[in-house]
Amino acid sequence: MASFKASTEHAWVPVGLPWMGKRDEFLASIRANVRGFVKSSALYTEGYRKPGKYMSYRRGHGGPQIVVPPSMGPWIAAIPDDVLNAKDCTYDNVQFKYTVGHPEILANDMIDLLIKRELTRTTGTMNVEIIEEIDDSLESLFGADGQWRKVGVFDTLTRTVGRVSSRVFVGKELCRNMEYVMSASDFARAVSVSGYILHLFPKFMRPAISWFATMPNRRHSGIAMKHLQPLIAQRIIDMRAKAADPTYPWEEPEDFITWMVRESFKRDTDHETSVYHLSYRIVLLNFGGITTTSIMVVNAVLDIWSSHNAADVIVALREEAELVLKEHGEWSKAALAKLHRLDSAIRESARVSAIGGNALARRVKVDDFTLPNGLAVPKNSTIGVSMDGIHFDEEHYDRPTIYDPFRFSRPREETLASEKPRVNEDLVTTSVHWLPFSHGLHACPGRFFAANNVKMILAQLLLDYEIQPFATRPPECRHR
Ligand code: HEM
Repeated sequence: MASFKASTEHAWVPVGLPWMGKRDEFLASIRANVRGFVKSSALYTEGYRKPGKYMSYRRGHGGPQIVVPPSMGPWIAAIPDDVLNAKDCTYDNVQFKYTVGHPEILANDMIDLLIKRELTRTTGTMNVEIIEEIDDSLESLFGADGQWRKVGVFDTLTRTVGRVSSRVFVGKELCRNMEYVMSASDFARAVSVSGYILHLFPKFMRPAISWFATMPNRRHSGIAMKHLQPLIAQRIIDMRAKAADPTYPWEEPEDFITWMVRESFKRDTDHETSVYHLSYRIVLLNFGGITTTSIMVVNAVLDIWSSHNAADVIVALREEAELVLKEHGEWSKAALAKLHRLDSAIRESARVSAIGGNALARRVKVDDFTLPNGLAVPKNSTIGVSMDGIHFDEEHYDRPTIYDPFRFSRPREETLASEKPRVNEDLVTTSVHWLPFSHGLHACPGRFFAANNVKMILAQLLLDYEIQPFATRPPECRHR
């Protein structure tokens, strides 16, 4: 079965392209597939360093991919979806057809539109509410009695991120319900695992095994839906009543549910208006927004507190946070924008600890597609760049294997001191050399919201808690 899968998936790869991880050995294709599955980041980097820099290999998720040189990054990032499609790759990677279902929601524009139009507009204006959740969550997890406690970094901060994001997604009451909050990260994990399992089988077998593979997905989404459906049903009733009679005694909360219900009043299909479909949209919003943000926070904490001179780094970060908070009195948008060192420490963490190894993965949707160097790429193939290769390339970064928390803020602080024009390279600035949020047409639209929350959580941790530095990391980052 594995041999059949390896040979059919590689049938479309242009002849002569080296297959990373494939060696001259018995059962070479199957063993190359296994290598791609267990060490895809290392393979991406290895391929990036080969002259010519073209290769195809089996990723853990989703079939072979042609990894193109980073110089083609801006070109890929600007090509529209009818030629190079981003979502097709994401959906196939996670096998959304089976793991999530609901093509009518996935193909619909409502979530993307509301993120770009409402969430981005509101980001920064709800920080008072968000701080309330951060403080309360950290206090309940770490305690406020001055005693040392041993806590799991991921377990605790996932809860804080889930609660904080949910404050804006679903409002004050539900964001404090930990059964609901944890169902988001449990669902994300279950979808990922079932996606991996499905990719182990050839396409024709997936329908048969999908029901079993996705049982945990249904359980966790079911928990979220149990809480979301009554809330959204009631919100629709209240919003309709208020629209009909402005004296109706109810105040409209500012959250994603309100924006979504308001938008649904302008639409007419069942899947854009029914309580079930609107609720499931929040399940998917959580999927895209919560675990990604948790990983960024957790990696930043691990990278900062295990850096070589962690004690000095923490003093410098704390000093900045104290000064800015004293000046502004609260974590407003303007105040957060002044946390240059913290912003840099998080951006640098996302550079060295980026997830997945690749970026700008795109499915070719047309016949006769040719890369700028003349290589003809068949329809339905996947192309992309090696994110780790780029992030660890000396051409783009000085001493790239070192975690240097102030790499991005140093030039900025020097610029501020000499009053030259500002160097604009902060956490939300994407480029083809810094890809955690991707770049170009499909750059993550939720990054402004995510960055706002990540910075506030880290700032509050620095100001209110002592964390003993973790074991110091090796001078160089781990080999990938
Ligand atoms: C630190 C947290 C996050 C990271 C690292 C992250 C990363 C990414 C990446 C790499 C992409 C893929 C773009 C591509 O295909 O090239 C993406 C897309 C997307 N993200 Fe995020 N994301 C984060 C948080 C969020 C949040 C909080 C939301 C929603 C509130 C969100 C919503 C989306 C959406 C809707 C897309 C699809 C955009 C499109 O295809 O045009 N993300 N994100």
